[in-house]
Amino acid sequence: MNYLTVRGTHIPVLGFGTYKLRGNHCVESVRDAIDIGYRHIDTAVMYGNEAEIGDGMQQSRVPRQDLFLTTKLWPNSLTPASIRKTVSESLAYLKSDYIDLLLIHWPNPSIPLEDTLGTMDQLRLEGLVRFLGVSNFNLEWMERVEQTGVPVITNQVEYHVLLSQDTLLGWLRQRDMFLTAYSPLAIGRLVNHSALQEIGRKHDKTATQIALRWLVQQHGVAAVPKASTAEKRRKNFDIFDFELDPEDLERIALLEKDQRFIDLPGIAPKWD
Ligand SMILES: NC(=O)c1ccc[n+]([C@@H]2O[C@H](COP(=O)([O-])OP(=O)(O)OC[C@H]3O[C@@H](n4cnc5c(N)ncnc54)[C@H](OP(=O)(O)O)[C@@H]3O)[C@@H](O)[C@H]2O)c1
Repeated sequence: MNYLTVRGTHIPVLGFGTYKLRGNHCVESVRDAIDIGYRHIDTAVMYGNEAEIGDGMQQSRVPRQDLFLTTKLWPNSLTPASIRKTVSESLAYLKSDYIDLLLIHWPNPSIPLEDTLGTMDQLRLEGLVRFLGVSNFNLEWMERVEQTGVPVITNQVEYHVLLSQDTLLGWLRQRDMFLTAYSPLAIGRLVNHSALQEIGRKHDKTATQIALRWLVQQHGVAAVPKASTAEKRRKNFDIFDFELDPEDLERIALLEKDQRFIDLPGIAPKWD
């Protein structure tokens, strides 16, 4: 596993995405992911699986402090009172004394951002949360975040070989923040991508491994692929023994980069 460093903290560059994993299958998937070597788990209140994530973490033999756990607040629970209630419920489900990274899942323009981030920051100062972040924030919203003065370390957004995030990534790097790439496999669409398969042949890797390697090889980028089987999880983890060379990177740079697959609800800000 490789780690990126922001503000003096080491974050595992590859996380395990858990959207749609439920019940005992989720518990087993999390335990298995940790056995494989994943040290970063991505969940959200909306995924309805925090209890299972907590069980999977407990069943693994890896100490809690070696794991990096992210959860996200749904946009309807961003008032100060809701945040406190939600985080206390999340901690109980997760069976943990703290959350490593707490994100706003989507911005909610009808709740003042400074109140939301201010409350999240108090939780950080109380030790219930180690780091704060946001998700699905465009640049205009990131500037609003900056104006609050609350320390935020990541923006989790859709990012993969078919979607450019150059401007946002540059903005984050300048501020010692990182980008967390969600749907890093374009929700499975990259599995049989012919250009990635060709690059993969050179390195004895699959298209999926090339897609993930491209992300985690970038400065200030982490990725959180989801996989429902042990075999896929192992393959996705097996990306730290090779490097994409300039020729590979040039080829990937030429792919169309305007393909967004996650539709955000109406309340979220527009991307362009
Ligand atoms: N912040 C947000 O708003 C937001 C939005 C979307 C996602 N996320 C996070 O990002 C995570 C990942 O995104 P995602 O789930 O949308 O999509 P993804 O990780 O890009 O792709 C997942 C799909 O790819 C398949 N897959 C994974 N590894 C594979 C492999 N080695 N070979 C073949 N197929 C493979 C999976 O198969 P299976 O069906 O077998 O699993 C699944 O169908 C989520 O789980 C969630 O944690 C966050």
